[in-house]
Amino acid sequence: MTNSTYLISPSLTKEQLQLENTVRLGVMASGSGSNFEAIAQAINEGRLNAKIEVLIYNNPNAKVKERADRLNIPTVLLNHKDYKTRKAFDKAIVKVFQTHQVQWVVMAGWMRIITQELLNAYPQKVINIHPSILPSFKGINAVEQSLEAKVKVTGCTVHLVDLEVDSGLILIQAVVPIFPDDTADSLHDRIQIQEHRIIVDGIALAVKKVDS
Ligand code: GAR
Repeated sequence: MTNSTYLISPSLTKEQLQLENTVRLGVMASGSGSNFEAIAQAINEGRLNAKIEVLIYNNPNAKVKERADRLNIPTVLLNHKDYKTRKAFDKAIVKVFQTHQVQWVVMAGWMRIITQELLNAYPQKVINIHPSILPSFKGINAVEQSLEAKVKVTGCTVHLVDLEVDSGLILIQAVVPIFPDDTADSLHDRIQIQEHRIIVDGIALAVKKVDS
């Protein structure tokens, strides 16, 4: 049951998700990095025509760093605590991405609010994944929010990023049922199985929409 796909929309064929040119990705992550690894795995298996040029992580203890090392993907630690303002922090992020000639940015569990600084450098080219069916349950603790609201289904969303938190053009969503005995952890685990699918297709969709 846990591995089932309940509903992903839009549902696209391999051909529809095929990218002509290899896309240079920059990934930002703050935590475990399972979405980061899902992207890397899709690339290695030929399901996504892209290359992760660099991973930026902001938490020195983030598990994502171990994953990147194992996958031989370059990493840069930018600790937000070392910057006086969000703008200065984002400026540093942009610098790293530009040095690595990144074309598209993916926020894969990035737990910081971004500024215009990043969006000016990458207009309509920043992608985020969020563990709810947006526009429901924006912000932090989206999984807990869905349990508190006693809704019967939730899921995840991949969308383009704009200045407002968890808004911007929705690219793809997956639905996940909530079971009566779910805890935040059990539900999040089930959502993440779907996240690892839609993050990959969401990147392809975003690139195709802009390039087409
Ligand atoms: C994911 O569930 C992602 O949707 C969420 O953080 C998790 C990161 O997991 N992002 C947000 O809540 C952003 N608002 P991961 O580190 O295993 O990829």
